[in-house]
Amino acid sequence: MSIRNAVIVRDLVKVYRLGEVEVQALRGLNMNVRKGEMVALIGPSGSGKSTLLNIMGGLDKATAGSVKVFETDLTNLSPAQLVGFRRETVGHVFQNMNLIPTLTAAENVELPMAALGIPAAERMKRVEELVGVVGLRERMGHKPGELSGGEQQRIALAAALANDPPLVLADEPTGELDTENATVVVEYLRKVNKELGKTVVMVTHDPRMARMADRILRIHDGVVEADVAPTSEAGRPADYSEMLKGRLGEIDAALAGLDGQFRVGQISGDEYVERQTRLRRTVEVLREELHRLGVVN
Ligand SMILES: Nc1ncnc2c1ncn2[C@@H]1O[C@H](COP(=O)(O)OP(=O)(O)OP(=O)(O)O)[C@@H](O)[C@H]1O
Ligand SMILES: [Mg+2]
Repeated sequence: MSIRNAVIVRDLVKVYRLGEVEVQALRGLNMNVRKGEMVALIGPSGSGKSTLLNIMGGLDKATAGSVKVFETDLTNLSPAQLVGFRRETVGHVFQNMNLIPTLTAAENVELPMAALGIPAAERMKRVEELVGVVGLRERMGHKPGELSGGEQQRIALAAALANDPPLVLADEPTGELDTENATVVVEYLRKVNKELGKTVVMVTHDPRMARMADRILRIHDGVVEADVAPTSEAGRPADYSEMLKGRLGEIDAALAGLDGQFRVGQISGDEYVERQTRLRRTVEVLREELHRLGVVN
């Protein structure tokens, strides 16, 4: 029943066309997100996670299939209706903090409310409330440059909540943060989910962040490949460690592919080193997770 679901995605297809080249970013993807649920999307680079999130948030249009968000079928909305949908229904948080550097934290949170025509007195009240939700009331007057990366993302989260949207979409909100800051940001996302009752969909590369969600969906080549509950009451199902192992295998293949690309001159030395370093870091995290689960030593 749709009443229990915040998001229903059916047979979603997205094809990007760049001149002669066609990229199939989503290939008939199906998923549901329940009201009040927090779901993490994980999966390799280029698997379609951002594409999915952008379509769900009304930032991009699907090629085929349907997306329903709180009873609204996005497929049939006009551009003007999509603008309204984005304002009222969705709060976005992105990887590179989308704060305006010349405004204070409070002003950054206030901005979306001003756009909606909320009266000044009410705006101030809500700004204080929301900045309090993310634990930064004493930093309200600071500019983004005077806040740590993690604090900036918490302000970005408060700003995403300005119009009280029922759905929060976060695309690698912790991508540029160290583990400690990343954990704090995801803890606040969780709080917003639990205490304010927001439905949350978060993309992350880090299994330690994904594990804080109710459910993890693994996206691969534009479809959902695995659907696991990492923290079910019965302890951790084997699914979770199987999923981590699957990801490890994929990274091995990606590393081998990278070597090949470098050898034939498809990528520069700098790019090779950067991508290899990233993949190796992910391997370390995955191994740590498996170790923690007692799966490998
Ligand atoms: N605007 C676009 N035009 C053309 N191709 C695109 C566009 N956006 C994404 N793609 C392609 O669609 C595929 C899916 O991209 P997407 O950004 O959704 O992946 P992702 O899972 O978010 O990856 P990452 O983890 O690197 O962020 C990729 O092959 C990408 O190159
Ligand atoms: Mg992405």
